[in-house]
Amino acid sequence: MNYFHYIENELWCEEVPVERIVEAVGTPLYLYSYQTITRHFQVFDAAFAGVPHLICFSAKANSNIAILKTVVAAGGGVDIVSGGELFRALRAGADPKKIVYAGVGKTEQEITSALDAGILMFNIESSQELQVINSVAGRLGTRAPISLRINPDVDPLTHPHISTGLKQNKFGINIEKSRDEYRRAKELDHIDIVGVDCHIGSQITELGPFIDALTRLKDLIARLREDGIEVRYLDLGGGLGISYNEETPPHPDEYARAIIERAKDLDCTFIFEPGRVIVGNAGVLVSRVLYVKTNADKNFVIVDAGMNDLIRPSLYGSYHGIVPVREKGKGILTADVVGPICESGDFLAKAREITEVGRGDLIAVKSAGAYGFSMSSNYNSRPRAAEVLVRKDRFEIIRERETYDDLVRGERITDFVEGLK
Ligand code: LLP
Repeated sequence: MNYFHYIENELWCEEVPVERIVEAVGTPLYLYSYQTITRHFQVFDAAFAGVPHLICFSAKANSNIAILKTVVAAGGGVDIVSGGELFRALRAGADPKKIVYAGVGKTEQEITSALDAGILMFNIESSQELQVINSVAGRLGTRAPISLRINPDVDPLTHPHISTGLKQNKFGINIEKSRDEYRRAKELDHIDIVGVDCHIGSQITELGPFIDALTRLKDLIARLREDGIEVRYLDLGGGLGISYNEETPPHPDEYARAIIERAKDLDCTFIFEPGRVIVGNAGVLVSRVLYVKTNADKNFVIVDAGMNDLIRPSLYGSYHGIVPVREKGKGILTADVVGPICESGDFLAKAREITEVGRGDLIAVKSAGAYGFSMSSNYNSRPRAAEVLVRKDRFEIIRERETYDDLVRGERITDFVEGLK
């Protein structure tokens, strides 16, 4: 359910016509619906109403501070993976006691900032990281609350680049070794064990992999308790998929039922780290058609958004629906929808049947709210797009379009490049 809809052949976001926003802000443009984000958050939250839980929105999906604030205002915490995301979460007013921190490569500086902020827990991904966090906490005269991120060796049945819970992936600590690792953690002076964590992958469209991971974690928790280790939190990560095209992922209610049914007696507070399911279908990328051409017998619709703006199609072959902002009742065109970047891999859609469009028309690339702007870059020296948030009949720029000056900020021409002196 989202708040993008057509009124008299014109695409609206909540109570504002998309064209009106484009007139004010230009293209390419990321456009998000506030009510969609809060609704998705509330549906997910309500699904777990029967058990103690905390929902930490995964900042990597969309880290704009206005989006983080939207989730924080709805009662959420934040799942972070870097010092930069910690900074953003705090800037958005997140309660540090609702911040969880994963990632295989935390630096000592990042660990220090997170300890200073007083986050809820570190999700630790290796033996060495455990030792480093222990020593940083010792230096600061404090104790670090931790979970180990368990790699349960479960196939999430998703794209290989976004599966994380298989033993050949770089993430987490092998489940077989984890009991020993917990025993070692228990002996450390500056570590407080508070829970168990896993995250098996993203865009998961079936319950099976989640249930398999939960079953393995439950077993581990039982053994840890035998060892006298207290497990207060069970963090099951994110990963619930959305419908980009014809996928039929479980509704959050179904996902919650499957988990609650199997884990309600665990006496834990559940933590979830959803990203995509909260913001994915709450955002579109609006772009203008620059040219339409035919090469050999292939049609190309060239638009002003490229792989630097939305890399998912190029990187994973992902499908994103493409719709006209104004339906003109024209015919259907089969075309590659491509950007201006100098790479053949720069496409938003391949051999796609779309409503016929011409130079100057606006299109919306759907389901672009997650891993859209947050993965964008300046490749080909393209300023990054503006971001706009709509709430009912109001819209505000939540990130200015970058300027050419932004592109060279921090760069300098040193003496020795000026010539052979
Ligand atoms: N927690 C952890 C530890 C994660 O690594 C991730 C995503 C999430 C939570 C949130 O997962 P979600 O609920 O959004 O599936 N760039 C890829 C997705 C990479 C996901 C990385 N980790 C894409 O565009 O599909």
